[in-house]
Parts: sequence; C-alpha cells; structure tokens
Amino acid sequence: ADTLGGAAEQSGRYYGAAVAPHLLGEADYASTLNREFNSVVAENVMKWDATEPNRGQFDFSGGDQLVAHAQAQGMEVRGHTLVWHAQQPSWVNGLGGDDLRRAMLDHIDGVAGHYAGQISSWDVVNEAFEWDGSRRQSNLQQQLGDGWIEEAFRAADAADPQAKLCYNDFGTDGINAKSDGIYAMVQDFLNRGVPIDCVGFQSHLDANSDLSSYQANLQRFADLGVDVEITELDIGGSGSAQANAYRQVTEACLAVSRCTGITIWGFTDRHSWRADDTPLLFDTNYQKKEAYHAVLDALNAA
Ligand code: G3I
Repeated sequence: ADTLGGAAEQSGRYYGAAVAPHLLGEADYASTLNREFNSVVAENVMKWDATEPNRGQFDFSGGDQLVAHAQAQGMEVRGHTLVWHAQQPSWVNGLGGDDLRRAMLDHIDGVAGHYAGQISSWDVVNEAFEWDGSRRQSNLQQQLGDGWIEEAFRAADAADPQAKLCYNDFGTDGINAKSDGIYAMVQDFLNRGVPIDCVGFQSHLDANSDLSSYQANLQRFADLGVDVEITELDIGGSGSAQANAYRQVTEACLAVSRCTGITIWGFTDRHSWRADDTPLLFDTNYQKKEAYHAVLDALNAA
C-alpha cells in the first residue's frame, strides 16, 4: 500500500494521528490526514476542560466536528481522555471527597455517553502513575483514594459498553518501575473482572531513546490479556536516526499480535506540541520525511 493507513490495514491494524479540528480548514492539513490515516484522536477537544467547561454544561462541538469528519472519511476515532490530572476545568479545583467523585463520574457518563458507539477505544484514565510505579498524588488520588481508577473504568463501561477501555501513560517504553506499577494494576483488574481492554503507550521519544525492551514490554501486557496501543508516538530528531527509531517502534507493534495500532501525536512538524524537535512524519511543508518512508516500508513488510 502507498499510504500509512492502507499499509497498516494490511495487517488488520490502524495508523492514526492526533487532530486539532480547527486546522481541518487548512487544505494541506485535511488532504494529508484524509489520504494517510485510518484513525484519529482529538489532541485536545475531548479533554475535561474542553467538554465540560462549567459543571454539568457540556460542549461537544470540537469532538463532534472531529467525529463527523472521521465518519465521513471512514476513519476510527480514539477517545482522549476522560479523566486526567491535567487540563481539568477550573470548577473542579478544590472539589473534595464525594463531590469530586460525583463530578468525575458525571463527567465520564456525560462524555462517554454522548459518544457511545462512536469510539473505538477510550483513554479512560491518563497518566496516573509516577516514575517509581507509585500512584501520582493528584487531586483524584488524594481525594478519592486508590479505588478511583477502577471507579472510572466501571463508569466508562456503563456509559459505552462498545468502546475498548484503555489506561494510557508515558515513560512506559520498556520494562521499568513505572510500567511494572501499571502491569500490577492491570493484572489486578483482570483478576477481579474490572472492565479494562487495553493499555496505551504514549511513546513520546527521541531518536536515541532506549528501545531495548520496548517490544518485550508490549508483549508482556498482551500476554496478560489486554490489547496494546501506541497512542501518542512522536520521535524527536531527524534523518536516518529518527527513521530507524520509527522503524523499530513500528516493527515492535507488528511483532505483537495484540498491538492493534499506532497513533502519532500530530502528523506535520508544522503543528506539533514539540515542534522544535521536528518529531513527526511530515515536515512543515507537508513533505514526507525519511521517517515516513521507514514506517511505510515496515508496515508493508508485515
Ligand atoms: O484553548 C486555549 C486557548 O483558548 C488559549 O488562547 C491558548 C493560549 O493560552 O491556550 C489554549 O489551550 C492550550 C491547549 O493545548 C489547546 O491548544 C493550552 O494552553 C495548552 O497547554 C494545551 O497543550 C496541550 C497539552 O496536552 C495539555 O493539554 C497540547 O496541545 C497537547 O499536545 C498535549 O497532549 C498531551 C496529551 O493530551 C497527554 N499526553 C501528553 C501530551 C503532550 O503533553
């Protein structure tokens, strides 16, 4: 195949990109997205601050625009993200105990319910662990206790039984203390029948990142019995070093049957949260970079 999505489809996978819907009016942005990808995720417009700016008052305009575009293009839609310690709307600050619990559960019900049946997989909870494998001491952890992640997954399952439910985090690009902590949680959830279907590996990397246990880490989660998804891939660097790292990540996913797909966090260096690192597959003029060809070749070799 001569597109990323088409090549991924050959092995029953997706190759997706994070999208800012307000950029869909830029001709090159829309045409590149529509040509190359068979999955999208909202970079920002489905987060708590964007979707519930005031308590109980939802704004789905950005997400609806993205979902409509994706459905018109036959693309899957990943959901990002129902519960996260960052980008919470200001009205959440200072909520304590049962009021915060109520706010979290109502938010999940409102957003996952609105998009029910339209989301392939939700990042239900994002970035709840520290580097040492302990829980991040966010307002959620401190006010709700250890059970808050389970509560979030159960609420998401009730709101949208069709969506795969993922735990998503960064710094888990190998077997390390952080991925060990997440592994233990997933194992516990599966043992107790807590609804969890996948783990998302953000994979914000650099060309010299240590990927020596990247595939083994994906494999051990798959062996537990969940899907794995590479959810926010971008690799700082350029040229062949960047291309080789993208190739390695692609081949690791292809080697793990339960790795269902890869999403890059943006697709052109013109619009990246870390633009200075030129981390994506298209340059600022939407030209394919060496890394693009490395990914396409790896996907086609599957
Ligand atoms: O929407 C406001 C706009 O009204 C305001 O004028 C402007 C200037 O202050 O800010 C805009 O909000 C920005 C938002 O992106 C939308 O553009 C926030 O300041 C900015 O902090 C936010 O950054 C996003 C960041 O998450 C925080 O939510 C990045 O674009 C986004 O790429 C990044 O993505 C995260 C994933 O969600 C989770 N994993 C890490 C990844 C990178 O940080």
